[in-house]
This record gives sequence, C-alpha cells and structure tokens, in this order.
Amino acid sequence: MNLDLEGARALTKGLCEGAADFTCDVMVFPPAVFIEAVMETVRQYGAVEKIAVGAQNCSQFENGAYTGEVSATMLRSIGCAACLVGHSERRQYFNEGHDVLAQKTNQLLGEGIVPVFCVGEELADRRAGTHFEVIKTQLEQGLFHLAASEMAKVVVAYEPVWAIGTGETASPAQAQEVHKFIRDLIAAKYGAGLADNTRVLYGGSVKPDNAKELFAEADIDGGLVGGASLKAVNFLDICQAG
Ligand code: PGA
Repeated sequence: MNLDLEGARALTKGLCEGAADFTCDVMVFPPAVFIEAVMETVRQYGAVEKIAVGAQNCSQFENGAYTGEVSATMLRSIGCAACLVGHSERRQYFNEGHDVLAQKTNQLLGEGIVPVFCVGEELADRRAGTHFEVIKTQLEQGLFHLAASEMAKVVVAYEPVWAIGTGETASPAQAQEVHKFIRDLIAAKYGAGLADNTRVLYGGSVKPDNAKELFAEADIDGGLVGGASLKAVNFLDICQAG
C-alpha cells in the first residue's frame, strides 16, 4: 500500500526504461486500483513483452454481494497474469487462514491466473525450530489439495516473516535449506519432475547487494521483492542479478 497514481506511473516508467536488458521473467504486482494504469504505462513504453502485471490479492468468492472485494474473474477480465495468495500481511492483518487461501487459489486457477502462493514462518517459529512444520502445514492446507495439472501452474514464494520489511535477510544458506525442503515436499506429493519445474521464489529484504548470492542457490529460482521494488533503479539492479 505504497505510492499514489502518479507515483505508480512514474515507477512503472522507470522499470520500462530498463526492461530491454531483462534476461529473467519480470512481473509487477501493483495495488488493485493501479493495475490498469500500470498496464497502460507498460504498453505506452513498449515493455509488454518484458513486464507482466499481477495483483496482490483477490477474493475467495466467485462473484456477488461481497462489497469491497475484487474477484479472480475481474482480474482476468483486465488481463492480470498472476496474483499473490497468502502474503504474510494478508495472513497476519486480515486473518486469512488455510481454507480461505485454498479457495483463493482455486478461484485464480479457475480463471487461468497464476497463483503466487506465499509461505513463511514467524520469528518465534524459527527460534523454536518449528519453521519446517509451519511451512509444511501452509503448503499442505493451502495447495496440496490441487491436482498435479493445477499445481504445475503455481509459483511458490518463501517469505520468512521476520525478514519482510525488516532489513533482515535470511542468509542464502538459510533460504536454500527451506527452498529445498519446499521442493522436496512438492516432489513427494507430485513427483520430482513437477517439483523441479516449480518456481520457488525468495522474499524478505531482497536488495541489490544480496540478490546475486541468494539467486545463486540451487533451489532459489527468483525473488519476490517488496521495499526495494519501490525504487526503479534498485529493482532493475535486482533483475540483473538473476
Ligand atoms: P521486503 O518485502 O522485500 O520489503 O522485505 C517482501 C514482501 O513483502 O514480499
């Protein structure tokens, strides 16, 4: 929940100016109210092939009297390619539990939108050594009801809550350990082939100066970038680190 319309347009313009150099897939997730303006800006600066646009959230309901909500159908109708599900701030401040997140995932897949499903432990979990259990439960309850053909469309993001917006980053080794754990769980449920093809992103204080070493880890396929994406130059640097 950052910037305003002019700020969103200016940031998008800044990203478009560096987009010709992208060698990785890049997607941006503006607040719902700015999605179309961001898409329009991407078109205006000729970066449609380089920058896809997604949403930060959607309703678990299909349509109807749910004032204030945005449905997956609405997102699809404006051309959204993907949508975050279960970002820790949604889990924490809006009490989104496993069932709701599973429903949101279903709604998105029903509309052909890629769910970017976020998991991650809180500091207390990590201190207690229960973080693997927490992540396993989040995956099992939110995603593992999916058939393999649906799971193959999902992107997973590991975002340790203690590293989001805190400036504190998981070390590459800490992140890699969890990413491997996530991939192994997917492999156990859906097979090694599907697990190898699943993108598992890391989020939590990704910055230009730590992106390269994080992305060098075997099971870290990319980043989900928060604060550092608010300055085009920083985000562009991170895009070059892949
Ligand atoms: P951060 O946020 O990069 O500012 O830690 C990550 C996120 O919110 O996904």
